[in-house]
Order: sequence, then C-alpha cells, then structure tokens
Amino acid sequence: MSIAAPPLDRNVVMRDGLRADFPGVGDWHYLDTAATAQKPQAVIDATVRAMGADYATVHRGVYQRSADMTLAFEAARRRVARFIHADENEIVFVRGATEAINLVANTWGQANIAAGDRILLSVLEHHSNIVPWQMLAERTGAVIDVCPLTGDGRIDLDAAAKILTPAHKLVALAHVSNVMGSVLDVPRAAALAHGVGAKLLIDGCQAAPRMALDMAALGADFYTFSAHKLYGPTGIGVLWARADILAAMPPWQGGGAMIDRVSFAGTTYAPPPQRFEAGTPAIVEVIGLAAAIDYVEAIGMETIAHHEAELVRQCRAELSAMNSVRLLGPEDSAGIVSFTVEGVHPHDVGTILDEGGVAVRAGHHCAQPLMDHLGLPATVRASFGIYNDGGDIAALVRGLDRVRRIFG
Ligand code: ALA
Repeated sequence: MSIAAPPLDRNVVMRDGLRADFPGVGDWHYLDTAATAQKPQAVIDATVRAMGADYATVHRGVYQRSADMTLAFEAARRRVARFIHADENEIVFVRGATEAINLVANTWGQANIAAGDRILLSVLEHHSNIVPWQMLAERTGAVIDVCPLTGDGRIDLDAAAKILTPAHKLVALAHVSNVMGSVLDVPRAAALAHGVGAKLLIDGCQAAPRMALDMAALGADFYTFSAHKLYGPTGIGVLWARADILAAMPPWQGGGAMIDRVSFAGTTYAPPPQRFEAGTPAIVEVIGLAAAIDYVEAIGMETIAHHEAELVRQCRAELSAMNSVRLLGPEDSAGIVSFTVEGVHPHDVGTILDEGGVAVRAGHHCAQPLMDHLGLPATVRASFGIYNDGGDIAALVRGLDRVRRIFG
C-alpha cells in the first residue's frame, strides 16, 4: 500500500507551468536527469535558430553572418564565465566532461606527472574521472591512491588528509556523486590538496545543474561539466582552469584554430582558450549551452538547489517507509537518490517502473569501483530536475508497490 506523498513545500516549488517548457517531459515521470536533462523549448529554439537562419562558421568568415555568429559564440563563452564566476579566457569548450578530463590528463598531466608521483582519487568517482588517470599512470609510472568514503557515502576528507603527501601532484574528485548525490566540501579539498602542493580537479557534472558555482570561492584548479546535464545540448562541455595553469599547458589536439603560425619549420600555438579548441567548434551546441544557462539563471540556481533538496527530502521519507527498500547516500544528497529493493535486481525494478511511466537509471552508473565497495552489482537511481514535482515521487512509490506485489 502506498503512502500518500507529503505536499511539497510550496515556497520552493517551481513557477506554475514550468513543466510545460519541456516538450520531452509531458506526463512522463522522468527521474533520470543525472544521466541527461530534458531540454526547455528556449534551448530547442536557440539551437534551431543557430542551425538555421543564423548558421555560419566562426572565427573564419569575412562575411557578416560569420562575424555575427562569431560574436554570438564568444558571447556564449562570456555567458559561461559569468555563470561560474570566472574569466572568459579560462573557459575551454570541449565535447563534455569526459573530454575535459582526458584533455587535462594528456596536457597538464603529461607535463607535470612523472614516475613515482601520486594521484588521489576517491572510491565514488565516475569512470571518466578514473580511467584517464589510470592511462596517464600507465604511461608515466605514477601511482593512484583511492580515498575512502564515510559511512553515509561522502568522500572522507579526514582520510584524504592522512593519505596526502608531497608526492601527490593531483587530487581529482567529484563535486556531487552521480550515485550517492553526496556533496563534496570543495574549499576544504582544495586546502588539503594545496597544502601538499597538489592541484585539485573537480568533476562538476552533477553539481553544475544543481547549485550556484563560484570558481574563486571553490578554490579548485580545474573544474569541468557537461552541457547536456544542464538542460543544454549534448556534445558540448566546459573545462575551466586557472589562467596561469592554462597558459603553461601544452596543446593536445592539433589542427585549425589552435595555432598562431604554421610552417614546415615549426608551428607556434594560439594562447588559451583557442590553443585547446582545434577544428571547427560545436557552434550550435555552444549557442544552446548559453540558452540553457539563461534559462536556469532566470529561475535561479539557489531556487533550483532548494527545489531539489525538497524533492530528495520527500523521496527519502517515502522510500524509507518501505521495508524492502535500502536507501544509499546521505540524507542531504543533491538531487539524487539511489536505492536497492531487497530480492529484486535493479534492472527488474527499472523495467517495472518504466511500465508505470517512471524512468530511472538502473545499473552501475559508470561507477563500478563504488559498486564493488557497496557489494552490489547495481542500484536503482532516481535523479531530479527542475521539472519534477511530488507527483513524480508518488508515481515512483506506486511503481515500487507494484514491484513488491510482483515479487511478493
Ligand atoms: N554520468 C551519467 C550518469 O550518471 C551518464 O548517468
């Protein structure tokens, strides 16, 4: 028997009709925003315009349309910079966070990490914040250490303080866990890393859609996120790095746009960020990302954070009342609630929920070391976005009741 959903705190419910801004949502109970967010019509319209009436190349055309598109493209870079309180020259457009981390590993990492140096990761990292460092360690002879978690699924910074030594050159951690939803104390992580002379890279994929970001206040050296989780297009993401670090980084991919002068005697490179943006960029996607930032900032990142905290509170309250459900992660997770159902494989849970119009992710969430740590093959994950409300949680609870009935 399902428990009635407690009403959402009306002060944090989004403006009426917001759900209608998302043609992909309708009456679907979409609880997989941590995988990818649905897009508001404003983003769809901006990308259609950019690919249609406004379309032209950037940085290359002598004609007016290209000049206009170049202005829009660089205005988008400033828009991103404002969003995270950084300088526009510190914003490198990449395909997504995965490419950003590979870029840092192959440029800064290759130049600054040598045999015997150490890299600190954590148990809960996404594969994209593990594998590029393993590949770098294999090439250089560096060693990877793994920071454990607290009992409630946070990166244990007390343990990190004990692990870190001057041999550590890099600490790379998730701001918000894509499985646990736990939020990292980034300023403390930065102080710990800097205390031993290491740099701090933050995977901000799950944080950027859920909280206000200020690069100076966070104190990291590298920060990255993907647009498609921030209500923007796929195929575009952001690498932020401190200007002095970017200036000293060698290029990664070679080609047009990243050069100063090319001759067969030798090539010189453009300053950042262009040095890291070889080839024709993802023009339409960058315009779409700027539209997505306009959209979320019109709502307000504080409001979004509050809204998702309220959804998490309500979801955890509902699920903890179900005897067969085991909740993972801390009470105050950011927009993400992972759980298991006793005796039922998460894929079966996901399939039955889908039959009731509820979309969740079921699997290892690209975090197999975390699954090993939890002793689980997989979890079910409900993740929230700005279009979700108490009705979605009620549908999730109805679906879990059905799982219980089917599996006895
Ligand atoms: N990193 C994405 C997720 O957690 C794909 O679902």
